[in-house]
Amino acid sequence: MVEMINLIIRFPVCFSRPGCVSPFTLLVLLGGLAGASDRNVAAEARWTPAIPRTWDDPAMSTLEVPLPDAGASPKHVSSDYYYRIPVRPVYRTYPVYRPGREPARYLEWLRQQDPQETFDATRLRTKDDWRRAGERVFDAPIEFDGEGSTLFQELRDPAWYEVNHVPVRRDNILPNFTYVIREKGKVEVGSGACAACHTRVTPDGRGIKGAQGNFPDDRTFGFESRLEYRQATDREGPLERMRGFMLRAYAVPWLRDDPNTKLASLSLEAMAATLEAIPPGVCARQGSSALYPPRIPDLFGVKDRKYLDATGHVQHRSTADLMRYAALNQGMDYFILYGTWRPRGQLPDPSKLGRYSDEQLYALALYLESLEPPRSPHRFDRLAARGQKVFHEEGCARCHPPPLYTNNQLIPVEGFEVPPAHRDQFHVMDRTLDTDGSLTLQSRRGTGYYKVPSLRGVWMRGPLEHNGSVATLEDWFDPRRLLEDYQPTGFRRFGGQHQAVKGHRFGLDLSEEERRALIAFLRTL
Ligand code: HEC
Ligand code: HEC
Repeated sequence: MVEMINLIIRFPVCFSRPGCVSPFTLLVLLGGLAGASDRNVAAEARWTPAIPRTWDDPAMSTLEVPLPDAGASPKHVSSDYYYRIPVRPVYRTYPVYRPGREPARYLEWLRQQDPQETFDATRLRTKDDWRRAGERVFDAPIEFDGEGSTLFQELRDPAWYEVNHVPVRRDNILPNFTYVIREKGKVEVGSGACAACHTRVTPDGRGIKGAQGNFPDDRTFGFESRLEYRQATDREGPLERMRGFMLRAYAVPWLRDDPNTKLASLSLEAMAATLEAIPPGVCARQGSSALYPPRIPDLFGVKDRKYLDATGHVQHRSTADLMRYAALNQGMDYFILYGTWRPRGQLPDPSKLGRYSDEQLYALALYLESLEPPRSPHRFDRLAARGQKVFHEEGCARCHPPPLYTNNQLIPVEGFEVPPAHRDQFHVMDRTLDTDGSLTLQSRRGTGYYKVPSLRGVWMRGPLEHNGSVATLEDWFDPRRLLEDYQPTGFRRFGGQHQAVKGHRFGLDLSEEERRALIAFLRTL
């Protein structure tokens, strides 16, 4: 309620300013509040959070499914080290607008704003308060670049949007970056938020949080690295920085012939082109590979998934594991010891780093657990009903059983021998999968398995498959994708125009009518 009163008081002052609430929204908010039943309010109010410890040493030591080369499996920093890292405050964020569409004198106005922290666990009462605070953590950037930086200038340059085909919301906001005031007078662009990769701009211009993101992250990175290389007086600088990044992010030094280490020895041109070949919806997250990058999963229904990542490399045994996943993937994974090798070299002084607090991560996890797929616009009609029959006749439900449309199991890829102990420890299927094994056999996120993805919300997804090799469901069920001269409609490696998207032959020998029906059904989920 305090927040509501603040809004009402602030309202006349901030009208037509960025981050402001419209009169319509205000009416809806007030209406919703008046309509809530007293019983619900009381039940919500009684809720007390039980905040787990993120970096619990025993839990961290069993978090991952081992790497195919088990000796190199992750060893995490100690909890003593982790908790000496200072907590990053969550600052209020301000939208980045398409150039030419931001409010008049926006930057000037931003320079006058005081820093404002928006996460204070002591003020959160109900579970909904926590979820809303978690959404602010989801939106909070973790990297900051000042006005003189290349990124800051790019976001204000129309050419950057055009060359890289950057999707912007219909209200002219780019949802993947924000402006942040950490110090009065100093405007910074914030990046690296969960929202940066996990927000999708739909064809009709809405921004859907939790959906498979479609910001061209690697493309813009390739573009930026070329730009800095061209502009540098000493070109060794940008080249060395890029090499360092490639090794830190993707090297798998214990592989005999690591293609990722080899990539880092090539020219800047070749590295930039490799990144630029990665389409929106796919993202070479650290620990994966720029050569076989994972597609970004949607986060709808994540609370029911037993394994995280395409390779199932992080177990999801509890809410605490989801918190651990977030902490690791936002930078702590660079400090993992793989055998004798650490991506960041020596452990730095922890006071030089930043982390989320346990409270922030708990709020974030509650928010993630509340995400459900948006309702499908595709109706369950006669065609879809026919498709549902095909789905069951074809045995899809063995692996994708309703209601989750996944059996939450791991399938070994060809060439991986399942260690006997895994059958007791993990949910491993008794058969192999023949999709491309590179990501799971030759990356730091590898396990030798791929997990069965849920099909709920698949209508909004694309590109599909662990590498995002096919753009649509039509392409996934097109038998021509098995041919060597196929041109993948999603991700395809730089330099390779033609390559088969092999494996997962299910549903490939259907009649045209059955295929249409099956796809119609899948789009209703
Ligand atoms: C730079 C882009 C990027 C950012 C930033 C990012 N993610 Fe992701 N996320 C990915 C990619 C790519 C994957 C898939 C990785 C894989 O399959 O190996 C992923 C996977 C996940 C998964 C696993 C879901 C599943 O079903 O497998 C979760 C959960 C997740 N991210 C949550 C988050 C949260 C929470 C944040 C912020 C704390 C975040 N991500 C920040 C790109 C990103
Ligand atoms: C033996 C288990 C198994 C069976 C049977 C199976 N699938 Fe799958 N399915 C998988 C796995 C594993 C993946 C992920 C493959 C990868 O990423 O390499 C997958 C991926 C998919 C995808 C892509 C989803 C995404 O988000 O990328 C769709 C769609 C799909 N399956 C639908 C079906 C349909 C329809 C059938 C029946 C015709 C079927 N599957 C049968 C295991 C199975």
